[in-house]
Amino acid sequence: MRTTISFTLDDLASLASDCRRCPLAGGRTNLVFGEGNPHADLMLIGEAPGETEDQTGRPFVGRAGQLLTQILKSVEIERSEVYITNVVKCRPPGNRVPTKAEMEACWDWLAAQIALVNPLIIVTLGNTPTQKILNTTEGITALRGRFFAWKGGIEVFPMFHPSFLLRNPSKKKGSPKYLTWLDIQAVKERLEVLRSRNRGS
Ligand code: URA
Ligand code: URA
Repeated sequence: MRTTISFTLDDLASLASDCRRCPLAGGRTNLVFGEGNPHADLMLIGEAPGETEDQTGRPFVGRAGQLLTQILKSVEIERSEVYITNVVKCRPPGNRVPTKAEMEACWDWLAAQIALVNPLIIVTLGNTPTQKILNTTEGITALRGRFFAWKGGIEVFPMFHPSFLLRNPSKKKGSPKYLTWLDIQAVKERLEVLRSRNRGS
């Protein structure tokens, strides 16, 4: 007799919950694993938890998170449809950028999340996740707004980080906000194309 054992995101989250793989563990209130639809077509990856996220244990719930929710809403994507996480699961002191070693220590969690969710598209938010996922040192301004073929047929689409948009609130033509509102439309359209292809196959 064969038994099927399925390993879920919840199992992964409980394994991660007492992670001590890097020194960020020592400063956390809560580990912020990720949340959303475990079978999402769209996965979003940020940099690291901020203060509100550390306090609540949930990704993108502070000011940047509220802006992210609005960006998604502008193309009728609900947060509950997508899966949201970060490159590192614990808050760096003073919100500094996570170090290479911290991102390396945390990589297995993210890789397993991606494998379990198996999205059609990954949106990377800002330099940190974009450079980590695409293994490049190129900046977000050069990379955003394009689809990159990634492992397992997944497409990666870099966008500006919502915190960067909070610091650059202009909406005039060509501004980061203006470009972001175009970018999310491109994501929505591409999702529809990829979904209809999947249904056809
Ligand atoms: N910024 C991030 O990159 N991630 C969060 O979860 C919150 C703010
Ligand atoms: N730097 C970042 O890390 N992210 C942005 O979105 C823009 C500049």
